[in-house]
Amino acid sequence: MKFFITGTAGFIGYHLARRLLDEGHFVDGYDGMTPYYDPRLKTARVERLERSNGYRHYVGMLEDKEFLDTAVDESQPDIIIHLAAQAGVRYSLECPEAYVSANLVGTFNVMEAARRIQPKHFLAASTSSVYGGNEKMPFMETDRADSPMTLYAATKKANEAMTHSYAHLWKIPTTCFRFFTVYGPWGRPDMALFKFVDAIENDRPIDVYGEGQMGRDFTYVDDLVEGIVRLVDAVPVEGSPVLFEEGVDSLSPVAPWRVVNIAGGQPIGLMPFIETIEKSLGKTAQKNMLPMQKGDVHQTMSDPSLLNALTGYVPETCVEEGVSAFVDWYWDYFADK
Ligand SMILES: NC(=O)c1ccc[n+]([C@@H]2O[C@H](COP(=O)([O-])OP(=O)(O)OC[C@H]3O[C@@H](n4cnc5c(N)ncnc54)[C@H](O)[C@@H]3O)[C@@H](O)[C@H]2O)c1
Repeated sequence: MKFFITGTAGFIGYHLARRLLDEGHFVDGYDGMTPYYDPRLKTARVERLERSNGYRHYVGMLEDKEFLDTAVDESQPDIIIHLAAQAGVRYSLECPEAYVSANLVGTFNVMEAARRIQPKHFLAASTSSVYGGNEKMPFMETDRADSPMTLYAATKKANEAMTHSYAHLWKIPTTCFRFFTVYGPWGRPDMALFKFVDAIENDRPIDVYGEGQMGRDFTYVDDLVEGIVRLVDAVPVEGSPVLFEEGVDSLSPVAPWRVVNIAGGQPIGLMPFIETIEKSLGKTAQKNMLPMQKGDVHQTMSDPSLLNALTGYVPETCVEEGVSAFVDWYWDYFADK
């Protein structure tokens, strides 16, 4: 099959493209190589993808509608997976414009391209951050998610609504997935695992927010990719919910559209997470205990029932294994730098 994937120079897009290429699919990747974090890491990911004959890379911004249209027209994909975005909860307080531009205007341009091409399935990344201030755990797709706490979350919630309208109007089968704190090799330098490992290795103290009293449903990147790949085949059909339990499918009543959590439902506290990193590195961290940051939530926890009903799969890699794989990659990647 032919896939058009936005954000393939990014952490998740790289792993997804790698997996699909290994399975013999063709992947056209589109990425603006933005400087939000070290572009050398993005270039290194793309160089690895380009070793495969099945991969073609377009360097372009989502906002460049003309170039994006040209790329999609040339590609003629069966499936479009939209992962490129201005990510990061905290940066959305510093630079909100980037979120409006990439996530709202950019996603609109990808939707317009999908309208023309009519892929068999359009899939787009959303986030657990849309659950915002919800206190009911675990988070289910059918829970209300109307209290975003950052502009990042608000733009992702808007993306869900935007893609729903196109799924309804133009009958584009669409799945939005909500990711929960993804981690693993080739990970993002702005996220906790990378920051902690880097600081500990270089004898700098780590900033522990929320006095360590936070929990996250960490998802190992290979597990996430497994979930995405299986969801590609779970094309939403209007009027055909999965009937594992009345009312639990998020399938829209008026469109071939659904939203699905991808996470295991096994949250881990920040302090045990840090202990796991310390064990893996064989070193103790100097910790700056700090209050909660603006826009952060205390806990995330997915209900994986819908994912399981649609794909027969629930993420299960334990954090010891996942952190150790990241640390091995980190040592290897920085060995010659
Ligand atoms: N990593 C996580 O824990 C997590 C959690 C929830 C949701 N998500 C979502 O998953 C998706 C992928 O995240 P990631 O962790 O791989 O992030 P990432 O920042 O590593 O990847 C995003 C890619 O998009 C590209 N990009 C950004 N703005 C662009 C623009 N305007 N035009 C073209 N390209 C642009 C960047 O260059 C980058 O390579 C994002 O939509 C993100 O919001 C990630």
